[in-house]
Amino acid sequence: MTENTQAFRRETSTSPVADDRLAEILAAPGFGKFFTDHMVIIDWDADAGWHDPRVVPYAPFTVDPAMMVLHYGQEIFEGLKAYLQPDGSVAGFRPSANSARLNKSAARLAMPELPEELFLQSLRELVTIDKRWVPTTPGMSLYLRPFMFASEVGLGVRPSGKVTYCLIASPAAGYFAGGAAPVTVWLSTEYVRAAPGGTGEAKTGGNYASSLIAQAQAAAKGCDQVVWLDALERHWVEEMGTNNLCFVFGSADAEAGVEIVTPELNGSLLRGITRDSVLQIARDLGFTATERRISTDEWAKAAETGEMTETFGCGTAAVVTPVGTVKHADGGFQIGGGSSGPVTEQIREALVGIQNGTAEDPHGWRVRLAD
Ligand SMILES: Cc1ncc(COP(=O)(O)O)c(C=O)c1O
Repeated sequence: MTENTQAFRRETSTSPVADDRLAEILAAPGFGKFFTDHMVIIDWDADAGWHDPRVVPYAPFTVDPAMMVLHYGQEIFEGLKAYLQPDGSVAGFRPSANSARLNKSAARLAMPELPEELFLQSLRELVTIDKRWVPTTPGMSLYLRPFMFASEVGLGVRPSGKVTYCLIASPAAGYFAGGAAPVTVWLSTEYVRAAPGGTGEAKTGGNYASSLIAQAQAAAKGCDQVVWLDALERHWVEEMGTNNLCFVFGSADAEAGVEIVTPELNGSLLRGITRDSVLQIARDLGFTATERRISTDEWAKAAETGEMTETFGCGTAAVVTPVGTVKHADGGFQIGGGSSGPVTEQIREALVGIQNGTAEDPHGWRVRLAD
């Protein structure tokens, strides 16, 4: 057996959540509030590489106060969802794309890459042992959170010689409290999320820690989400909270049809897997899909003239979220009268259909994780 495919040790929980309590949890799981009975752990050190993959009862870690992650934030994570399929199996949505992104994040944070097959095995192990936690209600899913952190004990700024990979899972309803209701967003000109040469393209905890103050500012301005602009000019739109942004020009009735524009990958915005899926679905639906820069001025002007008909955010947690209103230091504007539009709905339907197994899967995005 190679490092890429290893036998997992399995230790079954002796105190799994009782069936009636689980039914209560799955009736209203919220997001990120409840965790399944087990977790996966794989250790890495410079000498042994990845070793001792295991499924164990979900439990707190014992953390030494000098563990490097607590001091230097060397940590990365992923997020993806698994959906119950009509035949009773459970499928993950594009898990290989998460594996690839985890490894890009690892490279940026000077951490070891986890072989894709070991990553996929970890998902299959956890979803199989905790299958009863996969919600059966349409729209709900089992959110999977793989992460790895610097677990060497000692001070001194250098790449950790020990890393722990862990996978936990949590049943999920919708993410925004309002479901698919249009959100109001705040253009953050005071704080930036990422800068050229920084870690914006990596999914690392520090990016989220530094975003909290801007999200709090957005909330204080009566907004649901913060929109990040480029660090240098504070003029180019990057992304929204934990979502990428898509701008819809035109409409199905117009002669020119529909064009979906999303900010191009520039090294600082996150390579969203939903973003990539939306671009593909847009093309499948006969729309034009364009990756290019878009400025806050263009956003405001095109929304005002009606050339831009819709704006939506896309990401694993909330899937597709319409943006109705934009606020900024000098005022604000609405898009499409502030309500969700038909293209947003069409994209969401198409994506959700592939995820939950009710639509064809022409690009092979569903990957079976449990029978
Ligand atoms: C900053 C940021 N942008 C965009 C996304 C959307 O990425 P994905 O579609 O892979 O969930 C996320 C969520 O992971 C995010 O945290």
